[in-house]
Amino acid sequence: MDFSFTEEQLMLQDVARRIAQEKIAPSAEHHDRTGEFPLENIRLLGENGLMGIEVPTEYGGAGMDPISYVLAMVEVAAGDAAHSTIMSVNNSLFCSGILNFGSEAQKQKYVRAIAEGEAIGAFALTEPQSGSDATAMRCRAVKQADGTYVINGKKSWITSGPVAKYIVLFAMTAPEQGARGITAFMIDTDKAGFHRGKTEPKLGIRASATCEIEFQDYVADADDVVGKEGEGFKIAMGVLDAGRIGIASQAIGIARAAYEATLEYVKERKAFGAAIGTFQMTQAKIADMKCKLDAALLLTLRAAWVKGQGKRFSNEAAIAKLTASEAAMWITHQAVQIHGGMGYSKEMPLERYFRDAKITEIYEGTSEIQRLVIARNETGLR
Ligand code: CAA
Ligand code: FAD
Repeated sequence: MDFSFTEEQLMLQDVARRIAQEKIAPSAEHHDRTGEFPLENIRLLGENGLMGIEVPTEYGGAGMDPISYVLAMVEVAAGDAAHSTIMSVNNSLFCSGILNFGSEAQKQKYVRAIAEGEAIGAFALTEPQSGSDATAMRCRAVKQADGTYVINGKKSWITSGPVAKYIVLFAMTAPEQGARGITAFMIDTDKAGFHRGKTEPKLGIRASATCEIEFQDYVADADDVVGKEGEGFKIAMGVLDAGRIGIASQAIGIARAAYEATLEYVKERKAFGAAIGTFQMTQAKIADMKCKLDAALLLTLRAAWVKGQGKRFSNEAAIAKLTASEAAMWITHQAVQIHGGMGYSKEMPLERYFRDAKITEIYEGTSEIQRLVIARNETGLR
């Protein structure tokens, strides 16, 4: 077993770290306070290959491996979590679905635009009445005699919904067939019949714009189908396996930022005549933070490694996402506690890390859904 990274992986990590520390982190407080979408920084990430890390170079991407994706996501998330949410959707939910299941024409047209940072992509699975229970969707795509589909319905909580040019949409083409009646479509948001709702006010990742979207007699062409009719749910689940590695990496980035700030603070802050880092109760917290951080990183790298081997990695991705998101919640909680009143103040970034960490336990499958996936894989029971 080799724990070292290749020169290419370290180079990409370095590019991501430089952009994150020089451009993203300095404006993170502003983006959190205002909720302003960080378009300029997203373009910069795209110009540097970070919006299509695993996308082959012939489609405008960086042509790197899943380990590189983890390393880059961690760096960007340590700079600002909201930026890494947008990055994660573009990379793993949008590009990977089209690359694995889309036609050559779809790869050339849509993947290139997103990977090069020219346009922003989104992924629309969730509906007002169906989140965890994704197959309970109601959005309908009805096939017409001329081969086109007429789409009607709502999708909720769509990351980058307010700004996306292209969206991968999941809709029911054969409701009586349940999961096997779902089809994936490529949506162009400039076309008639597509509508965006108001941007959702959120606890954290506030600069990542989220909204409801609605389809009213939107007409999709036959060649807008991604993969085959009825394959949509498997595409969504396969894409989410990759996405969960991205969210695990995001959680690690947030947790690492909180941990590093804490390491500094415990040496500077004094109480009872000594640095608070000399108290054994603080030391125990530091040790536990470090163990959880390393465990999360190793499990996430394992999932990325299995993915890179071309094997099924659903279980490893769920284990990584569950472990990393719960570690991020625990670590940011302890980081606030160790900073005392300053941890609670907006003068320091700790309260933002704490708020940002929470989403990693909810989206791309809640912690309960990750446990369900892991237990089903382990026991073979349903
Ligand atoms: N890869 C390929 N196929 C898969 C699969 C996977 N990982 N997981 C399931 N499938 C297949 C099954 O084999 C089954 O196929 P057959 O019909 O051939 O038997 C089919 O899909 C249906 O599977 P299940 O019976 O297991 O489906 P289920 O209804 O019990 O649901 C679930 C399973 C794991 C709970 C799933 O619904 C799920 O993951 N829910 C969470 C939804 C989610 O993560 N949403 C995220 C939205 S995107 C987002 O959140 C983005 C963001 O924040 C930025
Ligand atoms: P519900 O499914 O209603 O769950 C409510 C509670 O019940 C949860 O605690 C859940 O874990 C629990 N629960 C449900 N079923 C079970 C079970 N079988 N066993 C045990 N407990 C269970 N979706 C997209 O499609 N695209 C996006 O880009 C996107 N971005 C998002 C961004 C944000 C900021 C947020 C908040 C959400 C986003 N989502 C997106 C939706 C997200 O994936 C869902 O919120 C998530 O999957 C949970 O669904 P729900 O909110 O409907 O909760």
